[in-house]
Amino acid sequence: MNIKTRRTIRKYTQQPIPDELLNQLLEDAARTQTMGNLQLYSVVVTRDEEKKQKLASLHFNQPCATGAAVLLTVCADFRRTTDWCNQREATPGYDNMFGFLNAATDALLYTQTLCNLAEEEGLGVCYLGTTIYQPQDIIEALGLPQLVFPVATLTMGWPAEKPAQTERLPLEAFVHQETYQPYTAERIDTLYKAKEKARQNQKFVKENNKSTLAQVFADVRYTKKEFEALSQNMLCTLLQQGFLKTADLASPITPMIETRPEVLDCDVVRFQNQKEKWVAFVGLMDNQPYEIFTGLMDDEEGISLPKSVVRGRIIKHIDREGRKRYDFQFENKRGYKTTVEGLSEKFNPEYWNYAKLISGVLRYRMPLDHVIRLVGSLELDSDSINSWKTGVARALKKYIPGAAPEEEETSN
Ligand SMILES: Cc1cc2nc3c(=O)[nH]c(=O)nc-3n(C[C@H](O)[C@H](O)[C@H](O)COP(=O)(O)O)c2cc1C
Repeated sequence: MNIKTRRTIRKYTQQPIPDELLNQLLEDAARTQTMGNLQLYSVVVTRDEEKKQKLASLHFNQPCATGAAVLLTVCADFRRTTDWCNQREATPGYDNMFGFLNAATDALLYTQTLCNLAEEEGLGVCYLGTTIYQPQDIIEALGLPQLVFPVATLTMGWPAEKPAQTERLPLEAFVHQETYQPYTAERIDTLYKAKEKARQNQKFVKENNKSTLAQVFADVRYTKKEFEALSQNMLCTLLQQGFLKTADLASPITPMIETRPEVLDCDVVRFQNQKEKWVAFVGLMDNQPYEIFTGLMDDEEGISLPKSVVRGRIIKHIDREGRKRYDFQFENKRGYKTTVEGLSEKFNPEYWNYAKLISGVLRYRMPLDHVIRLVGSLELDSDSINSWKTGVARALKKYIPGAAPEEEETSN
């Protein structure tokens, strides 16, 4: 089978794959490109029926896994290279994310070459993405040491089916000449037209009770919830296998949240301090407070907003001289936008400076109960600043799960 006629095969005959043929394919596939010619991969061959069924269960008993002659688990492997270095008075430094990515790239290139060669021999293969769904269990079942991580599984056997070829997007969908071309709504319509029209895909939509093909993917097959949980699990397993350290987890996150996005969704929290009406704008990232601006709710000095406004956006502007300004924007019930410019200028400068400090603490994700305690412990002289302290604590409390909700003052 050549590349133009290939398809994934998920049903196999009982005919075994001779050892010599498999070994030849495994050896030839090693001719593929590899980083520094280090061959940062290993393959675990599973033929034993009992072991195969155990492994298939970790792939959710997909029929192609239970029925294949052989299962091949391809692993990103920096173990062997690391051991070699240690044995030859060289200091290896590959127990990190960059090491993992290079080993994973090597392993996947090897996997694909092996697929091509096997298909040329008339064998059928199916790639199992479920390898990285429960990697810990596969690691345990195959006895994989640190710095070895399973990234791909191939089920292999002689084809017992010849399914129709699946469709592909047209060339223009994924090839960009010289610079990347953005996907406008019109381009998306054009590029996905044939895919969405394909009979098989229309059937998917119907079977899943959805109205678009994209919904079949986003709501059913690969959901946000599942991907987020699998990502967390992936990070834990990378830690377990020595490709990540706990300290690494904090550092890539810090620069990401340190740079404030241009636009942040925000909640508007109103409250009363003694006789004064106050408002807080709580900028949110991942639904958690990221910054907070508070001040008097007042036409004269401060901000007055329609009662119905409880959410909006805080937009950061930087002028040509590099001065920052924060605007608050909300939409009324008809969808018209109103922008209140210069939150910083509307509020008392002293509150503004404290707000900057507290926002700094929030964006580094200090737990909210600690932030509230910190705000409460500030020893400040002026009465109005003491009101500010109470206000900030009140506004933040609502984001602590399980905390008793504060009475919100909504009258304007
Ligand atoms: C990363 C990846 C994960 C995949 N996971 C699975 C899988 O778990 N089960 C399966 O039956 N096919 C799996 N496949 C195969 C794809 O479904 C298949 O390649 C795709 O639908 C295109 O069909 P074709 O290979 O017949 O052209 C996977 C392929 C890739 C590249």
